[in-house]
Amino acid sequence: MLPFPFLLRAAPSIARASSWRLRPPALAGSRVRPLCAPAAERITITFVEAGEDVVVEAQVGKSILEVAQENEIDLEGACDGSMACSTCHVVFEQKHFDVLPKPEEEEEDMLDLAFGLTDTSRLGCQIKVAPSQDGMKLIIPGSG
Ligand code: FES
Repeated sequence: MLPFPFLLRAAPSIARASSWRLRPPALAGSRVRPLCAPAAERITITFVEAGEDVVVEAQVGKSILEVAQENEIDLEGACDGSMACSTCHVVFEQKHFDVLPKPEEEEEDMLDLAFGLTDTSRLGCQIKVAPSQDGMKLIIPGSG
């Protein structure tokens, strides 16, 4: 066994040698992906389906339609998000509606055809889940 003072003096060179083995010189300074990506951020959304609250977890960045379909919520999405129907129509609470990006003209045209249109209606396929929407409630008009 080596004497303790020797180990203290040798520690920096041992650390350097081991870091060379883990990270070869060719990769020094280059961007290296982490071995594991951080868990995708998830929030909680409540869908009001046929008057009943259904609480689901939603991954940030997915559309409301995708989240609904993953959780077997009765939100049809007949055109699969190409804005050729209004079957993904959802109604937002005012506070969450107010911070959404403005709808494109095509979305407004489709919303005009939606059943049960309100002032806070949007197409679920056009709205991406954002961290600020954690805890929001969405009503599905005419469900049930
Ligand atoms: Fe058709 Fe959203 S799924 S407009």
